[in-house]
Amino acid sequence: MQRIGVLTSGGDASGMNSCIRAVVRKAIYHGLEIIGIRRGYSGFIDADMGPMNLGSVADIIGRGGTVLHTARSERFMTKEGRAQVMENVQRFGIQGLVVIGGDGSFTGARLLHQEYGLPIIGVPGTIDNDISGTDYTIGFDTAVNNVVDAINKIRDTATSHERTFVIEVMGRNSGNIALAAGLAGGAESIIIPEIPFNIDDICQKLLSGIKRGKLHSIILVAEGAASGLDIGKEIKQKIGFDTKVTILGHLQRGGTPTSFDRILASRLGAKAVELLMAGETNKMVGIKAGEILATDLNDVIGKPVTINKDMYDLARILSI
Ligand code: F6P
Repeated sequence: MQRIGVLTSGGDASGMNSCIRAVVRKAIYHGLEIIGIRRGYSGFIDADMGPMNLGSVADIIGRGGTVLHTARSERFMTKEGRAQVMENVQRFGIQGLVVIGGDGSFTGARLLHQEYGLPIIGVPGTIDNDISGTDYTIGFDTAVNNVVDAINKIRDTATSHERTFVIEVMGRNSGNIALAAGLAGGAESIIIPEIPFNIDDICQKLLSGIKRGKLHSIILVAEGAASGLDIGKEIKQKIGFDTKVTILGHLQRGGTPTSFDRILASRLGAKAVELLMAGETNKMVGIKAGEILATDLNDVIGKPVTINKDMYDLARILSI
């Protein structure tokens, strides 16, 4: 193998740059050439790509987002789009590909492997932490820290005004961001899609909190479970609390990656290159119990990811 490609695809996640840096520098360390593909599969179709060197990834380890840019490509999901990608694979002499992204990005990578035999390795990069085969995805830890930072700030104003706040966080269909940030931020209630909730129970908890002298309450809602605005309205209707709602939105995705994400991204990116060099394909690198390992993409794509129920129960006990 002489030349490999790297792209980021789907929603950006903080730490993707640390991963690109690791892929590029590890490849060069082993004497490989590396092509950076911009704007995910869209850029691959349009040949928006070119060689990278050690300097191309200087000073990016601590930058959020992705210097390669990213996209969700409809065209790539057509046979014609993928044929165009393969023309560019030939044209640029790419013999293996590292795809940094989530489930949808891996589905695309698997198609290139299945239809054309292109060696591909996936690296999990998404704030949602919703990928099977890894305990953590790149960007999750930074997103959780962003949410905890927001909770801390909101708590200051919530205490001062003795108010109830609902904070809606991202995660698509996963409650992992809400659960981790809720435990770390001491939220009074955490609403996640994996566990049914009852608005009357939440209201009861708010009332008993006030009774025992709580000055404020924070309810964290995962976007996949309910709308923060609806929860706020219901609380107001049911118990008359002046409830403020904050939707954190895309600010959760940005910012400098935490050390955890930088280390994870560096280790996973380097491992992806090693796997390609060893002739592996159709795999995703991940971390399980601290160990870096590879899982077949067929055991990753579309496989459900469970939440840590013990953590959920603990958050409930501690937020009484
Ligand atoms: O998958 C990452 C994510 O940030 C989800 O948490 C969220 O639902 C989605 O992307 C938002 O997508 P977009 O940036 O396209 O609005």
